[in-house]
Amino acid sequence: MVGVQVNAIGQGGRSVAILALMALGACALTLLGGMAASIVYTSWEPSLRSSGLTLQHLRPIHESFAFAWVFLGGVTVVHAWLISLGGPFCGAERMRFRAMIALWLTAGAGIIVSLLAGRFTGREYAGYHPAFGAMILTGWALFAWNFFARAGFSLRGKPVYVWMWTAAIPLFAITFLEANAYTLEWISRRPLRDIAIQWKANGVMVGSFNLLAYGSMMWIAGKMRGNDSYAHSTTGFLLFAVGIINTFTNYGHHTFHLPQTAWVHWVSFLVSMIEVILLAKVTIDLWNLRRKAPPAPDLAVPARFASSVTLWTCLMLASAIAMSVPPVNSLIHGTHIVTAHAMGTMIGIDSMILWCAMSWAARQLAGPAHAAVRDPWMRRAVTALDHLLIVFLTLFAIRGASAGLARQLGPSAPDLSRFVAAFPALMVAVGFTFASVALWMVARWMGAFVRALRTADAEAPPTASEGTPVPDSDRVAV
Ligand code: HEM
Repeated sequence: MVGVQVNAIGQGGRSVAILALMALGACALTLLGGMAASIVYTSWEPSLRSSGLTLQHLRPIHESFAFAWVFLGGVTVVHAWLISLGGPFCGAERMRFRAMIALWLTAGAGIIVSLLAGRFTGREYAGYHPAFGAMILTGWALFAWNFFARAGFSLRGKPVYVWMWTAAIPLFAITFLEANAYTLEWISRRPLRDIAIQWKANGVMVGSFNLLAYGSMMWIAGKMRGNDSYAHSTTGFLLFAVGIINTFTNYGHHTFHLPQTAWVHWVSFLVSMIEVILLAKVTIDLWNLRRKAPPAPDLAVPARFASSVTLWTCLMLASAIAMSVPPVNSLIHGTHIVTAHAMGTMIGIDSMILWCAMSWAARQLAGPAHAAVRDPWMRRAVTALDHLLIVFLTLFAIRGASAGLARQLGPSAPDLSRFVAAFPALMVAVGFTFASVALWMVARWMGAFVRALRTADAEAPPTASEGTPVPDSDRVAV
């Protein structure tokens, strides 16, 4: 199979490197935003406030860029696949790609400046001005255009990752429009409808980025093994089918406080459980397949991340089942256990998949000898991330449990006041260490992608394949 290498596909490698740099930039902003948000919990909060920053500023920055990171990471992998399919973008495709990048960069810069200036909407996951939402959506339409122009609309015989991406692209567009439906007065004036639509939209949005990430995992696992057969397996397609159903039902978790019938919540619960069980099975299957053929040294970092995905999917499955037991659910509702769960799934599953993708793409673009690919400290850093994340989330979970127990048992609740007092300092210490390790890795990959861009620029004259369609015989079979 053809790899995505700058030297092999010139301009195509540039497109992937540019997107990877944007995704990693969003990841770095998420980590920095999380670090700043965690200071709000400590006695340094007044100093932060005096510099004009509060949780109202920092939470939407942290969340908006967390979403941007996962979407951009997935879009990077989809572009790597598109380019391995048909060669570098040329003509109208290249124009659309450039316009998409310009729109997303403008939106990203606008979001950060406007949120720091205090222009927030107060909406969960859509805290920025809708004008930036319009730019994101227009960029997405251009991405969809390039995707369907190359991939086509027929799914017959295609591997499951193509099904996942084909579904994720329109899903995001529809749900993004729904998330912004509050700008219409006849919705914002009806609070119940507004909350129901908002959480239904957020649920589908998470579902659509999960599909992008699962598809990325499937494609990259096949590339690393040199065998795409698992992407045609029944388990893979079952995960896709349940993932799709879950995009439409998982909002039930967020609307327990609305007067809805109980079966909405039950359907939501059952479908989510089936999805996470299937995801655990897929990651364990892929892990077993990898054990049969250990990775080459230059693939050790992505392989290590893939093991982390397996570990975290199983841990999140266990915690999701525990959280869904009705008495436990009423205990944890509205506590930091929910924050731990939201961050745990987004870091442990989506981010681990995408860090795996980034380390794989860095190897493809900067070459297997690049320091960011071979350095044994990169592998050790993945182990450090796993351990730090377990401690970080456990701290949130114990803090949440203490609040839940105090609420339910009153004075007879166990006395955790010493832990509660120590929580901010512990959380900041562990969170900052976690973020520093992750930022160090992000910086190494960014260095690799910048080098790949320079190498592509130094390629002169352009290769014969640049700007011309790739003959069918040279295309990658997908
Ligand atoms: C890639 C890494 C990260 C991702 C994807 C991520 C994602 C998220 C998400 C989705 C939430 C909202 C959870 C909810 O619904 O309540 C959240 C909250 C939070 N995150 Fe992170 N996070 C990351 C890293 C970090 C780090 C490294 C720190 C600390 C150093 C941090 C600190 C926080 C805090 C303090 C909150 C709660 C804010 C509040 O009280 O409302 N995050 N994060």
